[in-house]
Amino acid sequence: MRMKVMTTKTEQPLLLDHVDLRIVATEQGDSSAERKTLVQLDPEHPGFRDQDYRARRNSIARIALEYRRGAPIPDAPYTTEEHQVWRAVREALEPAHRRHACAAYLEAARRLDLPRSRVPQLSEVSERVAALSGFRLEPVAGLVEPRVFLESLADGVFLSTQYIRHHSTPLYTPEPDVVHEVLGHAVTLASSRLAELNRMVGTAVKRTRTAEALERLSRIYWFTMEFGVLREAGAVKAYGTGLLSSAGELEAMYRAELRPLDLEEAARLDYDPTQYQPVLFCADSFEAMYMTLRDFLRRWN
Ligand SMILES: [Fe+2]
Repeated sequence: MRMKVMTTKTEQPLLLDHVDLRIVATEQGDSSAERKTLVQLDPEHPGFRDQDYRARRNSIARIALEYRRGAPIPDAPYTTEEHQVWRAVREALEPAHRRHACAAYLEAARRLDLPRSRVPQLSEVSERVAALSGFRLEPVAGLVEPRVFLESLADGVFLSTQYIRHHSTPLYTPEPDVVHEVLGHAVTLASSRLAELNRMVGTAVKRTRTAEALERLSRIYWFTMEFGVLREAGAVKAYGTGLLSSAGELEAMYRAELRPLDLEEAARLDYDPTQYQPVLFCADSFEAMYMTLRDFLRRWN
């Protein structure tokens, strides 16, 4: 049983609403065992003292533990308060998306047409994404090793958490939750070209033998699919899911140092997932991002 949780910044609860730790851990582990990770909240977690929340987290984790590929995903037991969290996040994100999201994201979101008033179940999100790009979502109980997470992309499978952040901090989560997975990853995976790039990352990881090479690819995933930006009609727009699932990150991206998209450089650059990203790689256009990443991943060996 292992689940890493970051310390909550209680003094600034509205700032950090995205942290994705899946690609931070680098130790090697047994893939099937890693998917059995169970929930263990840090004392600093916003839901630590909420017994009902912890019980719900455990029952949602159990769904993932008992899940078998290809079976329908059971519904998670969200409460009225959790549906309100979803509404609050969407209300914060919608104007931010209009200003800062790239056209491919906005178009995919329009086609996906996810509910506004309630947390969508993974099963329905998966069905809608699959109809658009062939990608599917599968539940995981918590964090999985980078290789497990990234290799599943090669099969058109996105390993997704199903729980939602604690209702006391609607715009903050110390761990990836269903808001990040759905409003970040699922929407981008509904875009056929972003889905294709995700698959290519997965196949590149499958060709990767050493821990060092895996680390390099993980960083490339971080600086593109999680935190990538590009130019559209002269403006900087986000295509990275870590930005797109967080109104705070979207506002903060204008304070980041923008560097031209250079994947060799991104592969070497360290990052801190607990802070707003101080450095972002910016492509000249969606097309330039797509071609750069596609060609790099094709050559990857
Ligand atoms: Fe993510």
